[in-house]
Order: sequence, then structure tokens, then C-alpha cells
Amino acid sequence: MTPSQADAKKRRAAEAALAQIPAGSVLGVGTGSTVRFLIEALAAHPGRVRAAVSSSNATTALLDAAAIPVLDLNDVADLPLYIDGADQASRARHLIKGGGGALTREKIIAAAAARFICIIDESKLADALGTFPLPIEVIPMARALIARRLQARGARPVWRQGFVTDNGNDILDVHGLSIPDAPALECELACLAGVVTVGLFARRPADLLLVGTDQGVMTI
Ligand code: A5P
Repeated sequence: MTPSQADAKKRRAAEAALAQIPAGSVLGVGTGSTVRFLIEALAAHPGRVRAAVSSSNATTALLDAAAIPVLDLNDVADLPLYIDGADQASRARHLIKGGGGALTREKIIAAAAARFICIIDESKLADALGTFPLPIEVIPMARALIARRLQARGARPVWRQGFVTDNGNDILDVHGLSIPDAPALECELACLAGVVTVGLFARRPADLLLVGTDQGVMTI
């Protein structure tokens, strides 16, 4: 699949999500190339959302450019919908996220939202999660400790060198994990001291997957 073919599928999924947004509501907005198409679609429909809650500094910049007001989550009592992409998704709607490093704020907004729609192109759909390395955001002083703990369970953590999250933390991209039970692994890894956020979104999965394909958009 060429980049432009993938982009066409991402755009299809993003445009399908537009119809799911309650008119005039505050929308939770994720991060990444698929969400960029969503923000473009929102910019083309002024007033479709009243405001947004943003999951990253990058998304805030795009929302600002689209003249969509950005609210602090602390000031929003009712968030009916969150829309975001993913790096990998299963048919159980469990996700791996954090390829762009925005997983912590993404997980907070997903938890706050009544409904979570995930928009992906079909290459992200997998029978089993784990072929995409699992991002984990960690407190910098705990990076080596957590890496050793992960190695002890047979995984291969790789420090995303030169990258600092919006929260000032490090990312470990964890290769070679077998994920037979995503909610259990999410909990287990989240308990390691120094872990900020695990990029598994399984305990709070997506409610709906919109999958862009060559033919149109598949819903799961
Ligand atoms: C950001 O940290 C990620 O969770 C993104 O949601 C994900 O990487 C999105 O992928 P695309 O850029 O392919 O939409």
C-alpha cells in the first residue's frame, strides 16, 4: 500500500466519523495523521463542534489553525464523544496507541468520554495485538529499571531516544510482547513503579471502530 492509498483510507474513516458527532457538542480530539483528516473535515464544517478537548500540543496547534476553541478537560463536565486513531486494533476493539507519543492524554480523554470512536485504515486491523511495538510512557528516572523488568519477562524494550512527551517523560517501545489477554497485561504493566501510561487501550476499548478500506468504511 502506498502512502497516498493509506491516506485515502484514513480520510474515509475520518469523514465517516464526522456524522457521529452530536451537533454543537464539545469533542475529544486525538492525535496523529488520521485525526489530521478529521480536523480538516471539522474546519470545512464550521460550528459542527462547539469546542474541543485536545490530546496533544500538536493537535492543539491544528485545532487553533482551524479556529476551533480548545477547552481544558478540567472545565468540561460532559464529553459525549472522543475520536482518535490507533497504531493497531483488534476485532475486540482493543488498541495499541502511542506511536505518536500522545498516549497519556489520549487515555485520559478516552476515560472521560461517554463514547470512543477509533478511526483507522485497514492495515491497522490485526488478529492479535503486539506486532506493533507497545509504547509505554515512563518517568525518566525509572526508564532503565522498567526496561529491566520488561526484559525479565522476555520482551525487548527500546528507548525512543531524542523524544520527550508533552508531559516531559520518556517512551519505551516494547517489542516481542505476546498479548493473549490485553486488559490483564494493561493492568500488570501499569503497576510497575515509574510507568505513567501503557499504550494498551483494552480496559477502556473503543466503542466503535471505523475502518477505511478501498471500498468504503467498515464498522466494527
Ligand atoms: C498517538 O500517540 C497515537 O496513539 C496515535 O493515535 C496513532 O499513532 C495514530 O496513528 P495515525 O497517525 O496512523 O493516525
